[in-house]
Amino acid sequence: MIPQEFIQSLLGRVDIVDVVDRHVKLKKAGANFQALCPFHNEKSPSFSVSPSKQFYHCFGCGAHGNAIGFLMEYSGLAYPEAIRSLAETVGMPVPETQSRYDKSASPQSTGLTARMMDALGYYRAELKKSREAIDYLKGRGVSGEIAARYGLGYAPDGWQNLESVFPEYNAPDLKDTGLVIDSEPGEEKRSRRYDRFRHRVMFPILDSRGNVIGFGGRVIGAGEPKYLNSPETPLFEKGRELYGLYQARRAIRDANQVLVVEGYMDVVALAQNGVENAVATLGTATTPMHVAKLLKMADNVVFCFDGDSAGRKAAWRALEISLPVLADGKVVSFLFLPPEDDPDTFIRREGKKAFQQAVASAKPLSQFLFAELAGRVDMAT
Ligand code: UTP
Ligand code: MN
Repeated sequence: MIPQEFIQSLLGRVDIVDVVDRHVKLKKAGANFQALCPFHNEKSPSFSVSPSKQFYHCFGCGAHGNAIGFLMEYSGLAYPEAIRSLAETVGMPVPETQSRYDKSASPQSTGLTARMMDALGYYRAELKKSREAIDYLKGRGVSGEIAARYGLGYAPDGWQNLESVFPEYNAPDLKDTGLVIDSEPGEEKRSRRYDRFRHRVMFPILDSRGNVIGFGGRVIGAGEPKYLNSPETPLFEKGRELYGLYQARRAIRDANQVLVVEGYMDVVALAQNGVENAVATLGTATTPMHVAKLLKMADNVVFCFDGDSAGRKAAWRALEISLPVLADGKVVSFLFLPPEDDPDTFIRREGKKAFQQAVASAKPLSQFLFAELAGRVDMAT
């Protein structure tokens, strides 16, 4: 629980004009500021921010609220998250009356977040130094700009590289980052604690505030496992998080549509080719939490699975998960690519336009439901 007095003094300290302007460029218009409304599509600006009232209001769609409300609406944050994010911008520590129940606010996880950010900085810097990793990404069509946007990095080969990032490499709580593994007695060559990620291209996984909560690491070329992921940690719960959501938020709102794909590389390749509203599950099945989160941000959710039998199974599971959370005005549909493709290979070969056409022809949930069921029975009797 965050005390009410704190929220009031926070609102007194921030200026909603700065808060909004960080996300939506504002123009002065008389006593107020104006912009195209980020919450609905429009050609002329009806979104207005009042510095004197510290409110925003859209005359087009009726969106309305204070700085906290704006962050909730715009970034899809929960109330306490929006408060914390706002408090961070003005350097006010958030007092908690009951922080024990809230992992994301405990001092322990604050230290964790900082450590994850340090690791990100290290991996990114290492990518710049590795010809091999750069060539690998270039070979997959990823530009420097997109690599930066997704914070891609490289974990060099070697067992204890992170010692240079964390002087306290052997501290017991460094294990909570998921970045190190303690060797079992008898594993002599490593002799002690060692880095989880070695010789891999690193994909940071961000929460809705842009903090690093985990990593996926891909082998360069062939090798097992192809992707190694952070374990669940106090920061990272796979069933809640979606890869790429932080970068895609804006595009999801603009398109009122989100594409759910299977792989990290699918998200990155789609963004590289101008399709920015895609997110991926983290090597896990779709959960009700995923679908609920996405339907809060957009009315249309398109699941994009491979056309093979594994893809159809994953799609059926996503359908079962979606049914209970569907509501009027929400549309869930399914795009099946050719069996030999994933979104990455498809868009790189066929281009953005062909991919968008495929998305536009995705099967609505009802059609997929009845086609699947009809396939299981003899419809002639
Ligand atoms: P894919 O193997 O389809 O990934 O797995 P991809 O993104 O198409 O891989 P490449 O780089 O193009 O070959 C889809 C997702 O499943 C998880 C990862 O999240 C991956 O993005 N996965 C896959 C793992 O966690 N571990 C694995 O070994 C493989
Ligand atoms: Mn792929």
